[in-house]
Amino acid sequence: LKHFLTLDGLDKTLLTEILDRAESFLSMGEQSVKKVPLLRGKTVVNLFFENSTRTRTTFELAAKRLSADVINLNIETSATSKGESLLDTLKNLEAMQSDMFIVRHSDSGSAHFIAEHCTPNIAIINAGDGRHAHPTQAMLDMLTIRRHKGGFEGLKVAIVGDILHSRVARSQLQALTTLGVSEVRLVGPKTLVPSFFAEMGATICHDLEAGLKDVDVIVMLRLQKERMKGALLPSESEFYRLYGLTVETLAWAKPDAIVMHPGPINRGVEISSEVADGKQSVILDQVTNGIAVRMAVMSMAMSGQLQSADSSAAGEE
Ligand code: CP
Repeated sequence: LKHFLTLDGLDKTLLTEILDRAESFLSMGEQSVKKVPLLRGKTVVNLFFENSTRTRTTFELAAKRLSADVINLNIETSATSKGESLLDTLKNLEAMQSDMFIVRHSDSGSAHFIAEHCTPNIAIINAGDGRHAHPTQAMLDMLTIRRHKGGFEGLKVAIVGDILHSRVARSQLQALTTLGVSEVRLVGPKTLVPSFFAEMGATICHDLEAGLKDVDVIVMLRLQKERMKGALLPSESEFYRLYGLTVETLAWAKPDAIVMHPGPINRGVEISSEVADGKQSVILDQVTNGIAVRMAVMSMAMSGQLQSADSSAAGEE
């Protein structure tokens, strides 16, 4: 790895290496990861042009556990509010000898754009770009599934809700198919689960009972209204009636099915409080696992950068 922009094109061996490395960080201190010196002397800049609670905080914790110096650029109080362009902001951060940018942006493709325009020795990690990709979220979800289910083979997974606007669903679908689950069902209304997702290897399902039947893993997604501009929206109450995960609808899945959600959850819209806080819910495990997965990705990207710099130097001699 030099950057971590998408799971598209990454093979099973690499995804498994990320999970194994994350697991090694977790097992060092059970669920609380100890500090290691892998990024000592490196500067990591959190660049969140879109709001975040879980991703920004766990990237900061992960960088600190790797012994990096961490800067959180506050976009609202930065000079971008005085008209400075994204590229000029980045050039100034480059001049401060940054080693890694963690980027979240509302535009799909923004992380790729930054990787193309920054100096090549800065690692770019995608923390969510528009509706395109959220690769570290998908990997922390994979770690959570592996920890609870022991592996991926034979698993049936339902991803339920607003698939159309979800970068999480796209990255999860790539990870789940690469890691070899038996079936991924995308469940929701036709307006939010278009048929073209079938081309990515998923089963499309517009009926919740059929979608949840015999699944091992349920991922609930919220209605992402911030990306819906002008779309024909279901009302929240209608969505809950047809697609909400409640104690009654959860019973359609396998009795030991786990319930996941990337957050933020909207109680009473896509999931009931009883289920979100219930014994099948692993939603907070996902958050904890995010620290270890982000440590794994950041340390692997930094190693990739250093190897690339060594090869370039050797080539020049
Ligand atoms: N799952 C996720 O990306 O949450 P945040 O928006 O809080 O980072």
